[in-house]
Amino acid sequence: MKVLICDKVETSAVEKMRNGGLTVDDKSGITAQDLLNVVGDYDIMVVRSATKATKEVIEKGKNLKLIVRGGVGMDNIDAEAAKKANIKVENTPEASSISVAELTIGLMFALARKITIADSTMKSGKWEKKRLNGTELYKKTLGLVGVGRIGFETAKRAIALGMSVVGYDPYLNPVPEHISKAGIKMVKTVDEIYSQSDYISLHMPKTKETAGMINAEAFKKMKKTAYILNCARGGIIAEKDLAEALKTGTIAGAAIDVYEKEPISPDNPLLTVGEKIILLPHLGASSDEGQSRVGDAVTINTKPLEGNIYLVLLDGILNNETSETLRKAFDDLIESRIWKFVVDLSGVSYMGSPGIGLFISLLDTLDEHKGTIVFINPQENVKEVFKLFQLSTFYSITNTLQDAIKELKGLSH
Ligand SMILES: NC(=O)c1ccc[n+]([C@@H]2O[C@H](COP(=O)([O-])OP(=O)(O)OC[C@H]3O[C@@H](n4cnc5c(N)ncnc54)[C@H](O)[C@@H]3O)[C@@H](O)[C@H]2O)c1
Repeated sequence: MKVLICDKVETSAVEKMRNGGLTVDDKSGITAQDLLNVVGDYDIMVVRSATKATKEVIEKGKNLKLIVRGGVGMDNIDAEAAKKANIKVENTPEASSISVAELTIGLMFALARKITIADSTMKSGKWEKKRLNGTELYKKTLGLVGVGRIGFETAKRAIALGMSVVGYDPYLNPVPEHISKAGIKMVKTVDEIYSQSDYISLHMPKTKETAGMINAEAFKKMKKTAYILNCARGGIIAEKDLAEALKTGTIAGAAIDVYEKEPISPDNPLLTVGEKIILLPHLGASSDEGQSRVGDAVTINTKPLEGNIYLVLLDGILNNETSETLRKAFDDLIESRIWKFVVDLSGVSYMGSPGIGLFISLLDTLDEHKGTIVFINPQENVKEVFKLFQLSTFYSITNTLQDAIKELKGLSH
């Protein structure tokens, strides 16, 4: 698989892609004209913000299967043209999904128990035990608008706290299995989220459709006791309307990490609301792990099955860093003459191109020993990656462990 790097990315990331079995051409700083000349030779294109993946580039990229945007915003990619050409477009938010989900949960606790108010009043010399009585999250309803990576990670954590989770995401059609399995109840209209939820958390991108979507009209449909959280993108909430809704008691409170304009200007209406709002300076991805996801973010458990077959249980996300950890674990097993693997993917919530590269290169090594890998239990989004890269021509995905063992036993060895 050939990768074209168009903008500067970390040397270590390029190394990792190469180690993962991909052929990588680093042409960072490539001009628009040169890009048009060469893009036809590549399967994957990696951009940051400088290179524009225009309609013209996409049309010339006859072999393109994936455009990766290192970072989050996707404004430099013609998503419509890519979709038409059946090219998957991915940014790299997987590194920060868990950080944002944890922050969201933290903010719900802060709102419910008035933690930030308690802290600031204590520091101003007050002891307001009675006034600062709070509520539990237990048995409350969290409504998610957008049930992608971050929405899903948030839901899993909220469910573990005993909350009910309802989700609205018109683009998940049909609803992927991992969402219903986790216990998220999907609803058909956003109004159902507004009317049912005690906490409403936004996890969709900012698009033409979502810009200003949470406005005065929407606040009127929410419970008076509702809290709204925005750790997604500034501009999805109409800030003036939110300030008004909080001041007039239309809703109870808010926690906001992102703004129409960042850093915010001194006349931002949200600064006039006072205690009912928690404001953070776009901290969603600002954790050590979110900035540079460390190798141990994927956990690997191995267990011998019958006939020299090993079960490898993965949990986490397969990106550059985690694929490296996984490779080391496989190398150790292969060194101990283990060549047949059942890889249980049920815990893998995201698989990017380095993860794919890793498995493809492993197959070469295993082929020599007439070994192979059989995958079981992929989540819906990982299944899609298999389909996109036509990995089923290399690998089997079976439904049960028994089928996987049967297949591996059938291999001559
Ligand atoms: N606060 C931060 O620092 C921070 C960090 C990373 C990402 N983000 C933001 O968080 C958001 C979610 O990120 P993600 O990684 O989960 O993205 P994702 O692409 O995995 O999920 C977004 C989901 O929103 C859904 N969606 C799109 N339009 C919608 C609509 N009109 N109504 C309801 N759902 C809709 C999509 O179908 C998708 O399932 C993005 O806006 C991203 O920019 C914020």
